[in-house]
Amino acid sequence: MKVRYSFLQGMAIAAMLLMSNPSVYAQSAPSAKDLKAAEQLYKSKCSLCHGDDGSGSSITGKQLGAKDLKSDEVQKMSDDDLATAIAKGKGKMPSFAGKLTDAQIKSLVAEIRHLAGK
Ligand code: HEC
Repeated sequence: MKVRYSFLQGMAIAAMLLMSNPSVYAQSAPSAKDLKAAEQLYKSKCSLCHGDDGSGSSITGKQLGAKDLKSDEVQKMSDDDLATAIAKGKGKMPSFAGKLTDAQIKSLVAEIRHLAGK
């Protein structure tokens, strides 16, 4: 597991460096640039288990039983509940608190809505 994650961690560091640009979060409404950053963050941190499209149909996703992020079950959760799930993790999903900032977690909540076409 550790070895498999090292590439992702490298990607994560790159993503965090990109996201550490404060101008990205200066405005309140998400710009196209924010959405792009959230998409990149999703791909580097979440795709392994949830798949690029959020369906959870990646090999690892199927093995671990990752949820389909586009499903009603996930989409009916509030933004706060989604943020808490990402921060705390659940079952076989790791906790991302301490690895992602609150702003990054919020951007991923928006990305989860975006994946479902909302
Ligand atoms: C190591 C694999 C793995 C990674 C990486 C991962 N997840 Fe998950 N995720 C899971 C699994 C497995 C579940 C189902 C957990 C359960 O219900 O027991 C899950 C469930 C969820 C849920 C539903 C939580 C709920 O309360 O039902 C959300 C939302 C979610 N993941 C978002 C994310 C986001 C966003 C990321 C990236 C920051 C991410 N996941 C990264 C494996 C993963």
